[in-house]
Amino acid sequence: MDERFNKINRLLSNYSLGKFDKRLAISRRLDEVDAFIAGVNMLGEELKSITISRNYFTNIFNTVSDMVFILDKKGMVENINKAVSEQLEYDLESVKGRAFDDLHPVEKGTFFKDILRELKMETGPVAKESFIFSASGKRIPVQLTAAYLLDEGGNKKAILLSAKDMTLQLKTENLIIRAIIDTQEKERRRLALDLHDSLGQQLSAIKFFISSLGETLNNRVEKEILEKSSDALSGILTDMRDICFNLMPNTLEEFGLLDAVQELCNKTRYGKKIEFEIFHLEELPRMLKKLEIDIYRVIQEFINNSMKHSDASKISIIFKYDERNIQIILSDNGQGFDHSARSSKGMGLQNVQSRVKSHKGEIQIRSERGKGTRYTVVIPLEEQ
Ligand SMILES: Nc1ncnc2c1ncn2[C@@H]1O[C@H](COP(=O)(O)OP(=O)(O)OP(=O)(O)O)[C@@H](O)[C@H]1O
Ligand SMILES: [Mg+2]
Repeated sequence: MDERFNKINRLLSNYSLGKFDKRLAISRRLDEVDAFIAGVNMLGEELKSITISRNYFTNIFNTVSDMVFILDKKGMVENINKAVSEQLEYDLESVKGRAFDDLHPVEKGTFFKDILRELKMETGPVAKESFIFSASGKRIPVQLTAAYLLDEGGNKKAILLSAKDMTLQLKTENLIIRAIIDTQEKERRRLALDLHDSLGQQLSAIKFFISSLGETLNNRVEKEILEKSSDALSGILTDMRDICFNLMPNTLEEFGLLDAVQELCNKTRYGKKIEFEIFHLEELPRMLKKLEIDIYRVIQEFINNSMKHSDASKISIIFKYDERNIQIILSDNGQGFDHSARSSKGMGLQNVQSRVKSHKGEIQIRSERGKGTRYTVVIPLEEQ
């Protein structure tokens, strides 16, 4: 047999072991066997370049610090990079073939479906803030980006999902937000005290002087003017008390959240045709003052928004808690709004979101035109 066939055989065995460097010399005969050898040599070149680009890809895949998942079109994990194994403490074997939604229990079952729907609607990648869980149950805030992986023909082969760990960034943001909120609350408290103690007392003294003067007068016209002045002063005092209450209710400081919310509802109900319902367990858990103030501000903003925008006749406030979370469900029966439109220039909801976020909590806003609005706030208690 032609010795060249043995050489070809050995070469192909090398290729099967991943060694693509060797080539065979072409003889002077330039016959069919030589043509075959030229073909095998070309195959070696091709395999070598594919391997180089595959190694290149694997290198990039494993050196990026973001977590990267490759999912098939049904959302099953095909591959993960080193960052996933390190940060989530998973190895490829334990996650390969598992649904990505299993690693992501926040929106279990629907997360991948939502990503897929958005990918189909968008032309480019889809980005969203979310959470992902490590094997030991640690919850990691992430910025997720999803994009289709295309083959050479432009067909959608798989989905590339990258997750950037946002823990540090959120921590810094949180510190800044907290500092702003705390300064704001301190200023409000100072203003409320100043108004109440200084201006309030002086106005009350003037009122007392006016009524004392009124008793000494006999002229009817002068008496009437003094009475009107006294009424006007009473109006100012009431307005001032309301302003102080909105700035920082005494009740919140002295008696706690439930009493302050009750008082807020009573004051709002007065003069408005609105019914309030408050449901709670016997007592709320002990909370830091800061958290109580923030929950109070969220409720205050919800009531303001309901009255300003919704024409509701009923507002319900439900407090629920267990050893892990406190949950506050606020709902009205007003006209609702399209929350996805996000066209508002208002600051109220943004402030509410910052306050809730600063306690590592979450707020979900559900609203539909004609069907009322509901804010659901969940704040973890053990993280405070
Ligand atoms: N309970 C609600 N019912 C109906 N619409 C609401 C309700 N809550 C919020 N909205 C809508 O959401 C928008 C944003 O609310 P947000 O509190 O951020 O701003 P605002 O109330 O318009 O202004 P600001 O709070 O700064 O005074 C509102 O303009 C309103 O259209
Ligand atoms: Mg508002």
